[in-house]
Amino acid sequence: MLTHIKDLATKLAPRLIEIRRHIHSHPELSGQEYQTAAFVAGVLSSSGLRVQEGVGKTGVVGELHGSGKDQPFLAIRTDMDALPIQESTELEYASRKEGVMHACGHDVHTTVGLGTAMVLSQMAEELRENVRFLFQPAEEIAQGASWMIQDGAMKNVSAILGVHVFPSIPAGSIGVRYGALTAAADDLEILIMGESGHGARPHEAIDAIWIAAQVITALQQAISRTQNPLRPVVLSIGKINGGRAPNVIADKVQLLGTVRSLHPETRAQLPNWIEKIVANVCHSYGASYQVNYHQGVPSVNNDYKLTQLFQSAGEEAWGSDRVQILPEPSLGAEDFSVYLDHAPGAMFRLGVGYPDRIINHPLHHPEFDADESAIVTGVITMAYAACKYFQPQ
Ligand code: NI
Repeated sequence: MLTHIKDLATKLAPRLIEIRRHIHSHPELSGQEYQTAAFVAGVLSSSGLRVQEGVGKTGVVGELHGSGKDQPFLAIRTDMDALPIQESTELEYASRKEGVMHACGHDVHTTVGLGTAMVLSQMAEELRENVRFLFQPAEEIAQGASWMIQDGAMKNVSAILGVHVFPSIPAGSIGVRYGALTAAADDLEILIMGESGHGARPHEAIDAIWIAAQVITALQQAISRTQNPLRPVVLSIGKINGGRAPNVIADKVQLLGTVRSLHPETRAQLPNWIEKIVANVCHSYGASYQVNYHQGVPSVNNDYKLTQLFQSAGEEAWGSDRVQILPEPSLGAEDFSVYLDHAPGAMFRLGVGYPDRIINHPLHHPEFDADESAIVTGVITMAYAACKYFQPQ
């Protein structure tokens, strides 16, 4: 079966490179994946899949039906959206859209999803079960998975598989991680209300900018002294608004940030923990405050058996030296986690680093560039893992 998959994928390779380059040069922002979705739907229909467009707004679902009609589906999810970044690679197929770029490899993911669908559609007799391909929009704004689920994408799904590119692993290799793969990402807004006054008479005012500075410092120090260092918390304030003029004391400051954590118990206590620190600082100096904590996507927690499935599929296909067991999670976020409330799932990391380059730019970098040879590696790994999933143990 593995040989068959490898043959099919290798034959498809030139077409897959073409597909990837087309998607790469026509990137679309989250929730606006109209052309990408139409393109994906076209490829899926011509491979004989049953296609549904407009699932989760701009998402696409393709289904491969085996003989067991009422059997549950194995879902394979890839994402399609790009980022608001001006591409500065010199690639001939670089983005043709000003200020929009596939800098997170979702063009590669979509191509791996399509390639897997093309391969499995040619193995209908060997693959008797049902597979549902989810081409998700709006991952970068952590909305797309919820949209797809609301439209029924996870109905009758027994497990879900996913993939994300990883530039620090060389192309030709994959990474698997048992347990937490990515972090929970929550949004934080802190409002600090003081009292305006003359810059020369601070004692008659309540300086919201100075208090905001104390709040930031207190939060960062409190992480190091009051949070379990083995249970990471990252709190980054990325935006500050406040003040009117150099000689006027600010009466109001807004702090906007992101909060990352890995453990659900840690995450649960973060809103109160933050509020207590903000309250203590603000009360000391007579300011009032408001803390708005909004829970975003949870941590991706890879299912043990499905991670084993990726590991064994990868080892059989590529040899164990090309399968890295990742010792650490990332504190990045991925809305793949939202599907995991509905079925067990796992995601593997697809190496896309150029083995001969000293620097492979990270994801979300304007010069990020994936080694395309990884696409076939991704397709074979995913297709073989899917086949193995259906094999009786
Ligand atoms: Ni991504």
